[in-house]
Amino acid sequence: MEYRLPEFDDWETAQPHAMWAEARGHCPVVSVEPQPWEETGSFHVLGHDDVGVVLRDPRTFSSTINGDFMGPFMGDLILALDGEEHRDYRNLVAPAFRRSNLDRWRTELIEPIVGRLLGAVQPVGRADLVADFTAHYPVQVICGIVGVPLEDHEQFTTWAEQINFGPLDPEAGMAASAAMAEYLAPLVEARRSAPTGDLLSELVNAEVDGERLSEERLYGFLRLLLPAGAETTYRALGSALVALLTLPHVRERVEADRSLIPRLVEETLRWETSITMVMRRTTVDTELAGCPIPAGSPVTVLSGSAGRDPGRWPDPDDFDLDREAGAHFGFGGGPHLCLGMHLARLEMEVGVAAVLDMLPGVRLDGDAPAPEVSGYAFRGPAALPVVFDAHPRRGDATVSNG
Ligand code: HEM
Repeated sequence: MEYRLPEFDDWETAQPHAMWAEARGHCPVVSVEPQPWEETGSFHVLGHDDVGVVLRDPRTFSSTINGDFMGPFMGDLILALDGEEHRDYRNLVAPAFRRSNLDRWRTELIEPIVGRLLGAVQPVGRADLVADFTAHYPVQVICGIVGVPLEDHEQFTTWAEQINFGPLDPEAGMAASAAMAEYLAPLVEARRSAPTGDLLSELVNAEVDGERLSEERLYGFLRLLLPAGAETTYRALGSALVALLTLPHVRERVEADRSLIPRLVEETLRWETSITMVMRRTTVDTELAGCPIPAGSPVTVLSGSAGRDPGRWPDPDDFDLDREAGAHFGFGGGPHLCLGMHLARLEMEVGVAAVLDMLPGVRLDGDAPAPEVSGYAFRGPAALPVVFDAHPRRGDATVSNG
């Protein structure tokens, strides 16, 4: 069968599920001709079990490939390390994502940000939940977590985008990378001498077995946080809201029982995870699902396809709130399992609950095109136009996650 990657300008609108399903039906691992920007062909891993094998075997499937494209712009990247080096880096940054910090971020950042964004559209009675809500929400949370003042959010977001698109526009990417470090330097220095308890204070003062984060790793981590935490979460929340608002069986049950919201979030991450693929490179000649893969081959690990593998999930295209939770690869797996997954889940849960609580009678805008989850590497709805029963702005908006 022909396995055809979308053209580069199709990536935002691509609908790859049918192609992945057909390819999976032939073989859970397919080889792909080199793309114009690649020197060698690659291998795409489509089946649930094989995705798990690759993610859990970093000796054979190395993450260093992630540094090839992004290293020059992001610096020393946790995503590009293997083995002990990765473990040491991760041990220094992981404690910052502990439960007590999540609880604090929830009350100090997440709920007030959601309250402000949805409070602004409440009197209008209609909104595009992507343009007015999800596109601003996780990015503001990350900026708040890092300690970037509210008035600098937009500048910080622009730098993050330019760094992310560095491989396509290296000059802008390098300039943004330097500008972000220059902007953060005084904040870093201030937190070294007077920690304030925020994420930056924790990172600059973190110490494990006498080791601290080097400057390169500190800035590498800070440059990664926005693309890793904001781009992903805002798209996944959009897809969760598409499920809520377009599937009556989901809406009815969640409306009646808010304790189902975590299940809605988990099922969204299987059904339409926002990052559909991660990259690895083979370190030795190997074989996967009977397919020989030579050493040095790029391997595209399709978690988006694994989530729809009928060998693992009965009726995989159906959105089922009663499915067993948490066994998907939406947050990756193995040593690089997403560090922000609890934060992402929390943001999505609070976001879904707030849409129901703060926008009474919220429903799709019948005069606008129906929303659609789309994209190849990143998936989510481009727009989500809704109407609801408007009510005049009231003092401080509050949110709950009943
Ligand atoms: C729904 C939202 C999210 C999704 C779908 C997602 C997905 C992923 C995936 C698939 C990986 C593994 C990459 C690999 O194996 O190469 C990953 C790693 C990572 N994620 Fe997330 N992520 C989300 C939200 C977040 C948030 C909110 C943060 C932090 C604020 C975050 C920070 C990270 C970091 C630092 C890593 C690297 C971990 C390591 O290399 O050890 N992510 N994420």
